Amino acid sequence: MVDAGKQLINEVISEKLDMEKLGIGPNCTTITVADLGCSIGPNTFYAIQIIIEAIKLKHITKSSESLNLEFQVYFNDNISNDFNMLFRSLPPSREYYVVGVPNSFYERLFPKSSIHLMYSSASLHWLSGVPKEVKDPNSLAWNEERIYCATEEVTKAYSCQFEKDMKSFLRTRAEELVSGGLMMLFTVVRQKDTAHSQTSSGKFYDILGSCLIKMANRGLISKEKVNSFNLPIYNASTEELKELIDEVNYFTIERMEEYSLGSIKMARDTQVVISHIRAAFEGLIRNHFGDEVIEELFEDYTKAYAENLNTFQESSTKHNSTFAIILKRI
Ligand SMILES: C[S@@+](CC[C@H](N)C(=O)[O-])C[C@H]1O[C@@H](n2cnc3c(N)ncnc32)[C@H](O)[C@@H]1O
Repeated sequence: MVDAGKQLINEVISEKLDMEKLGIGPNCTTITVADLGCSIGPNTFYAIQIIIEAIKLKHITKSSESLNLEFQVYFNDNISNDFNMLFRSLPPSREYYVVGVPNSFYERLFPKSSIHLMYSSASLHWLSGVPKEVKDPNSLAWNEERIYCATEEVTKAYSCQFEKDMKSFLRTRAEELVSGGLMMLFTVVRQKDTAHSQTSSGKFYDILGSCLIKMANRGLISKEKVNSFNLPIYNASTEELKELIDEVNYFTIERMEEYSLGSIKMARDTQVVISHIRAAFEGLIRNHFGDEVIEELFEDYTKAYAENLNTFQESSTKHNSTFAIILKRI
């Protein structure tokens, strides 16, 4: 995502970042930047470097006064993120000061009007949690023997959770960004009105779900455990996202771009796919099913994925894409 967005980040900072409006001048030379859902690196370091270089370039070429700009970077992720690893991997030649901010980005993270620029990549499709109805056998939205959006009812429950989470994300960020501050969001989306099971990511998840069911059928895990396991992920459509942004009414939309994820090429490279899925979900699976299942599950997943490769090339499969949306705090 960082590579795809490099040009966009450069253009947006050059054209849309109004340093005067942000209060940057002789009395305030520190620019604050936050990465929300930074993980442990190295992508976050590339992104921050791109952002800082773009700001410096803009300052050199467009500002009448020469300020000695300084950068304070906030790295945010969930409390469970390995911040020690992140700090150990920091580029030694960095030109910024570092703060770790461990908490969910669905809550307040920073003091009021304290951040000039926010960035988030490949993180906003993670919900704050699985909607509770999908784990409830008495609910119409019970997701029996599936781990993702299997039916319309289940999808509705996920979509409501996404709406709640996204509104809370936008409201809290609106409090923290200074007026005129920019928020650059890169996230994975699906085409409007496409069922999740028809998308390439939905298919990756369905294959994982079917491996868990097979393990339950072999008596290695219980069916109840599978029924209470669901992925806290939701790939919105660009339309859903735009509607929510308009509804909260704190931001203007400055730019939007969609990039193909190159899913067809990726789907052919089994090891890349398995390692992505494993990196994303191993922790969740370990917590829910225990350490013992992991190796066998991912061996099964590798085989099942290879057997189902054709399904990713079917014309009915709708590939996900990366959506970049640049917002400015009103
Ligand atoms: C796929 S990684 C993306 C990492 C990095 N931004 C990148 O572009 O490579 C998603 C990250 O989002 C984090 N994340 C998910 N939900 C979050 C939340 N509610 N608050 C903070 N971080 C969250 C995860 O812990 C994970 O590190």
